[in-house]
Amino acid sequence: MSPTAVALSLALLFIHSTFWTFCDSISVTEREALLSLRSSLAIRARDWPRKADPCTIWVGIQCDRNKRVVTINISNFKRTRLGRSNPQFAVAPLANLTRLATFNASGFALPGPIPDWLGPALPSLTVLDLRSCSVSGVIPSTFRNLSNLNSLLLSRNNLTGIIPSTLGALSSLSLLDLGHNSFTGSIPSSFANFGNLSSLDLSFNFLSGSIPGEIGMLGSLKLLNLSGNSFSSGIPAAIGNLSGLIELDLGFNALSGSLPAELGD
Ligand SMILES: *[C@@H]1O[C@H](CO)[C@@H](O)[C@H](O)[C@H]1NC(C)=O
Ligand SMILES: *[C@@H]1O[C@H](CO)[C@@H](O)[C@H](O)[C@H]1NC(C)=O
Ligand SMILES: *[C@@H]1O[C@H](CO)[C@@H](O)[C@H](O)[C@H]1NC(C)=O
Ligand SMILES: *[C@@H]1O[C@H](CO)[C@@H](O)[C@H](O)[C@H]1NC(C)=O
Ligand SMILES: *[C@@H]1O[C@H](CO)[C@@H](O)[C@H](O)[C@H]1NC(C)=O
Ligand SMILES: *[C@@H]1O[C@H](CO)[C@@H](O)[C@H](O)[C@H]1NC(C)=O
Ligand SMILES: *[C@@H]1O[C@H](CO)[C@@H](O)[C@H](O)[C@H]1NC(C)=O
Ligand SMILES: *[C@@H]1O[C@H](CO)[C@@H](O)[C@H](O)[C@H]1NC(C)=O
Repeated sequence: MSPTAVALSLALLFIHSTFWTFCDSISVTEREALLSLRSSLAIRARDWPRKADPCTIWVGIQCDRNKRVVTINISNFKRTRLGRSNPQFAVAPLANLTRLATFNASGFALPGPIPDWLGPALPSLTVLDLRSCSVSGVIPSTFRNLSNLNSLLLSRNNLTGIIPSTLGALSSLSLLDLGHNSFTGSIPSSFANFGNLSSLDLSFNFLSGSIPGEIGMLGSLKLLNLSGNSFSSGIPAAIGNLSGLIELDLGFNALSGSLPAELGD
C-alpha cells in the first residue's frame, strides 16, 4: 500500500471508531437532561454516580438499543441530605427525554403540583406511577395528550379538584388508581371510553352523585373500587354488564335502593 492509502485507511478507521463510540453512548442532550434531573431531584451519587454511564450503571435507568432513556424508576429513592430539606416537584429536564415510557417515583417526595407541560412533552409515556409522592393540586387537563398511557397511578397524594373529563381521551388506559386523595365532583361520563380499563380505583375521595350507568361499558374491568366516597342513589343495573368483574367494592358510601337483579350476571 502507498503511504497515501495507509493514511486514508487509518483516517477511515478513526472515523469508523469515532462513529461507533458516538452511537454506543447516550446522546449529549439526554445525558445532560439526566444530570439536571439528578440535581433538581437531589439524587444521591451512590445511585446515580456522575461520571458513570447512566444506561448501564445508574440505578433505575433503562435505555433502548439506541441508548435513549426509556425508564426512570426512582421509587423509594432517598434524596441527598441537602435535597431532603426542600424537596420539590422539579422535573423540567424530563421534557428532553422524548422516548421516556416509564416514570416511577412512587414513595419519593415530589411535593407540589403536576406541571401542565408534562402531558404534551412526554408522548411516549405508558406508565406514570406517582403513588405516595405528596403531590398536590389538580390533574392537569393536558393529561389528555398522554395518548399512550396505560397505567396512571396517583393514589395517596393530596390531589384536589374534579377528575377532568379529558382523562377519557386516554383510551389505552388499563390501570387507573386515584384512591386516597381529595377529589370532588362526580365520575365523568367520558370514562365510558376506557374500553381497555381493567382496574379502576377511586376509593377514599370526596366523590358524589350517582354511579353513572356508563360504567357498564367498561368491558375489560376486573376491579372496581369506589369505596369511601359519598356516592348516592342506587347501584346501576348496568354493572351487570361487567362480566369479567372479579372485585367490586362500593362500601362506605351513601347508596340506597335495592340491589339490582342484574348484579347476578
Ligand atoms: C423499581 O425500583 C424498585 C426499587 O429499586 C424495584 O424494587 C422495582 O422492581 C423497580 N420496578 C421496576 C418496574 O423497574
Ligand atoms: C414502581 O416501583 C415499585 C417498587 O418500588 C413497584 O412496586 C411498582 O409496581 C412500580 N410501579 C409500576 C407501575 O410498575
Ligand atoms: C433541553 O435540551 C436543550 C439542548 O440541550 C437545552 O437547551 C434545554 O435547556 C433543555 N431543556 C430542559 C428543560 O432541560
Ligand atoms: C394535545 O391535545 C390537544 C387536544 O387533543 C391537541 O389540540 C394538541 O395539539 C395536543 N398537543 C400536543 C403537543 O400533542
Ligand atoms: C397532605 O397535606 C397535608 C398538609 O398540607 C399533610 O399533612 C399530609 O401529610 C399530606 N398528605 C399526603 C398523603 O401527602
Ligand atoms: C386494548 O388492548 C388490546 C389487547 O391488549 C390491544 O390490542 C389494543 O390495542 C388496546 N386498545 C387500546 C385503545 O389501547
Ligand atoms: C348492557 O348490556 C345490554 C345487553 O347487551 C345492553 O342492551 C345495554 O345497553 C348495556 N348497558 C350498558 C350501560 O352498557
Ligand atoms: C378498596 O380500597 C380500600 C381503600 O384503599 C381498601 O381498603 C379495600 O380493600 C379495596 N377493596 C378491594 C376489593 O380491593
